[in-house]
Amino acid sequence: MSQDSLFEKQYSLDDLTKKVDELKQKIVAADYRYYVLAEPSISDREYDSVFKELQDIEHAYPELQTQDSPTKRVGGQPLKEFKQFKHIIPMLSLSNTYTNQELLDFDRKVQQGLDSTDYAYACELKVDGVAISLHYSQGVLQRAITRGDGEFGDDITENIKTLPMLPLRIYDTSIITEIPEFEVRGEVYMEKLDFLNLNKEREEAGEKLYANPRNLTAGTLKLLDSSLVAKRPLKIVCYFLETHSPASSVSQSKNVELLKKMGFPISPYNEQVFSIQKVYEYIENWDAKRESLPFFIDGIVIKVDAISQQRILGFVARAPRWAIAYKYEALKAETKLLDITLQVGRTGAITPVAELQSVVLAGSTISRATLHNIDYIHSNDIRNKDFVIIEKGGDIIPKVVSSIKEKRSSDSIPFQFPQLCPCKVQSEIHRPEGEANYYCIHPNCPWQIRRRIEHFASRDAMDIEGLGEKVVDQFVELGLLQNVADIYDLYAKRDEILLLDRWGSKSIDNVLASIEKSKQKPYHRLLFALGIRYVGEGAAKNLAFHFGSMSALKNADIEEFMSVKDIGKSIAQSLIDFFADPQESTVIKRLELAGLTFAIDEEEFSQRTNEFTGFIFVLTGELESMTRKHASELIEKKGGKVSGSVSKKTNYLVAGTNAGSKHIAAQELAIPILNEQEFIQLLQISKPDTNN
Ligand code: IVH
Repeated sequence: MSQDSLFEKQYSLDDLTKKVDELKQKIVAADYRYYVLAEPSISDREYDSVFKELQDIEHAYPELQTQDSPTKRVGGQPLKEFKQFKHIIPMLSLSNTYTNQELLDFDRKVQQGLDSTDYAYACELKVDGVAISLHYSQGVLQRAITRGDGEFGDDITENIKTLPMLPLRIYDTSIITEIPEFEVRGEVYMEKLDFLNLNKEREEAGEKLYANPRNLTAGTLKLLDSSLVAKRPLKIVCYFLETHSPASSVSQSKNVELLKKMGFPISPYNEQVFSIQKVYEYIENWDAKRESLPFFIDGIVIKVDAISQQRILGFVARAPRWAIAYKYEALKAETKLLDITLQVGRTGAITPVAELQSVVLAGSTISRATLHNIDYIHSNDIRNKDFVIIEKGGDIIPKVVSSIKEKRSSDSIPFQFPQLCPCKVQSEIHRPEGEANYYCIHPNCPWQIRRRIEHFASRDAMDIEGLGEKVVDQFVELGLLQNVADIYDLYAKRDEILLLDRWGSKSIDNVLASIEKSKQKPYHRLLFALGIRYVGEGAAKNLAFHFGSMSALKNADIEEFMSVKDIGKSIAQSLIDFFADPQESTVIKRLELAGLTFAIDEEEFSQRTNEFTGFIFVLTGELESMTRKHASELIEKKGGKVSGSVSKKTNYLVAGTNAGSKHIAAQELAIPILNEQEFIQLLQISKPDTNN
């Protein structure tokens, strides 16, 4: 039924409701076959046409689009922030074990706790992802909550709805009648291959790579725009069911079977075993095979299977006595260290890098690994041409952990840090007292130039899209960029760029538009973007608001700098050096001429006072009249500080509705707690402006 035919023919609402149900069930069944069972049942074409038909009807009759509609999987309107939600059952973590002996100790305690009656263990893979709790009512997904601090988590329902494997509704009415309310827990994760592909795209776009699939999954789930989440290939595996009814009180393995019957994706690798020796076999077996799995696991979870026995064993502190995680060691490989090269960062810090004979580790080919710094190399006695052990945790950047001394050649000598920077300028390098790093101090070091331009354009600084690592390298190499001010002269070089490989008029115009937009970025971001040594985002903000403008900042002396909140001697000296440098002064002059923002917003400045100087606030719960971000800004405007956690140093806790563990912590420490009204009074704003 196309949208046109919908309007041509008069369908009754009843007919349409039936049709919508039919289409939804068809899609749900196809999703399950495709994503959970990996056995597609209909062609892509057919699927798309059914999906489109449903979308068309819902578009014409929005009242027919229910919360559980598969069309919701494409994501919705971006949120301002996530609401906090208190877990019905706290989300605890597991105790970790690393050895056979610790495993035997666990088993002994289980045996003692159960008075030696028979028991079985449920063994499961510990997928390295992000835990999530899902609430269903009448078979429909109501809410998805992250673990958070175990007691309170973020409500990320809209993001979770985009996961195609997850049933948004359970259609089996007999199950729903028996268990109208239930909670499911599982792990959201990303497969290795999908992760590598996403990183490849980022690499091609010259963007910074994600460290590992877990970080990328966690970062994705925190996106406020669910339509972006929908584009990322997230998966979920479910391993826990609570129904508060006999339906889920037999055993963990029966619960997982029930989850499967309801249509949840479960792990095909679960096993029920009857002795700790068999648990160990399971552990060994998966240790040997884990590299061949399509996703990362960081261990095995072992649970006493019978729920009645779990209840007898109970909990100790914040972990169950009936379950434990056996953690695997990081994956290791042996290879030859061919050379030690140096990498120069934006501040001139030089990091030694191991160039390795290529070796496959955790599914990817490794030819470089970090050696951290000279002290690391010496304390581990790692030398050029050594055979070394490299290790990869969940991260994509592997490290050299040791060298095999027995295989070392007799003429090997300890590594000496070169005296010169690898940059073409060949400037001498030096190591400041008390620092682990060597630095290149030449102002024209091309490597520093690249990293500084890249930093200037990065998301938290001037946010110039399309000016990532690769593009910056290319432009510096060709002499199109020599410093950050040159970015604003790229308009004049449009034709030149068009002649380069991989550049078309669309891509160059996008970059130019983003450059133009960056001129409006607030002054404190520019200050951070300049990459003055030690001046991070916080210091940049403090300096911006203290002095108000670049000209005032330039003319300040060291004492004045040091009178600013959180600015110590080294930052102050670094500012003096920066502004005294004639090259930097030229760059700053050119940036000013290009029209960048050189002072803080007048209105914002006039509103800024110092009444809260020295006061630390913590925010919790939801505020009605403003977002938490806005509340933080109001506090900072008055010179106060906002901290993420309650401690003895906290002066006020501002508690909105649904306040959580921070509220309890503040009560315990007798810290004054303000409700929203009291907070507003303190701010002396009768009606705060909620316009962010
Ligand atoms: S059971 C109290 N089962 O590992 C029971 N957890 O520290 C807690 N995980 O937060 C969880 N796979 O993120 C359980 N099959 C599995 C799991 C699993 C991964 C994660 C989960 C949890 C952490 C336990």
